[in-house]
Amino acid sequence: MSNELYAVVGHPISHSKSPRIHSLFASQTGEAIEYTAIQAPMDDFEGTVRQFFERGGKGLNVTVPFKEQAWELAGKRTQRAEKAGASNTLYYDEDGVLTADNTDGQGLVRDLVDNHGVDLGSARILVLGAGGAVRGVIGPILARQPASVTIANRTVSKAAALVSLFADEAGATELSACGFEQPDVPFDVIINGTSASLQGDLPPLSTNVIDDHTVVYDMMYSLTTTTFNQWALDHGATRVFDGLGMLVEQAAESFRVWRGVTPETAPVINELRND
Ligand code: ATR
Repeated sequence: MSNELYAVVGHPISHSKSPRIHSLFASQTGEAIEYTAIQAPMDDFEGTVRQFFERGGKGLNVTVPFKEQAWELAGKRTQRAEKAGASNTLYYDEDGVLTADNTDGQGLVRDLVDNHGVDLGSARILVLGAGGAVRGVIGPILARQPASVTIANRTVSKAAALVSLFADEAGATELSACGFEQPDVPFDVIINGTSASLQGDLPPLSTNVIDDHTVVYDMMYSLTTTTFNQWALDHGATRVFDGLGMLVEQAAESFRVWRGVTPETAPVINELRND
């Protein structure tokens, strides 16, 4: 029997680590899959998706800039994808309906909790940013019942909109929105979900948000320390992590959704770190 076909779709796509991650999962679990990278034209994501599944493809990962389009295209959405407003995982369900899932938030939470041993329950969490990346992770963070989640953003109205959207999932967690300048006390966990460092910028935060027990997590990953994590280290943080573990964990959850098999992530994270 020939291998079943999977792929990641984005634009650009040549830098994507997903083919390597899924190939490592496949050799580890013995699943017979082939996983490629597809660059969709900016104006024809839908055609690219249709063509892939018509050729017999089994599942797609979707990355920048098409995650919102993937969410719109699907005929059905999982509960976690519905609130995320974006999808990184597409497949046809048993009724033949194109289904959108989102595994990013679970990827972040698994990396923090399982790989780095961070206790999110009762934690006071500062989330920086209010774009698509942050919207995808707020639900799974709230599910861990932290004491508080403060969403800080340059455009405060976008943070406030996320607070309204997720109010029904907050339970006992205190959920609030503010600008970057406002937080002035140490947090247990700070998660950077802005794209500021892509422009070489840093959110203008008070250094008082960090003390020596603060865990700092940058959702971006990089071969060297990220700009944000370097700033945190320079101001007293001792535990800083980048998003490589999140990348591998979201991939593992997509693999489980498609194949019903959960791969081990630690060896894959190690292997990528040493590339
Ligand atoms: P993504 O899908 O990566 O989340 P996005 O939806 O465009 O991309 O969101 C980018 C986030 O980074 C937003 O929170 C944005 O702030 P605004 O909502 O005010 O635009 C934030 N961001 C981008 N560049 C930034 C910068 N130079 N300084 C601070 N925040 C920045």
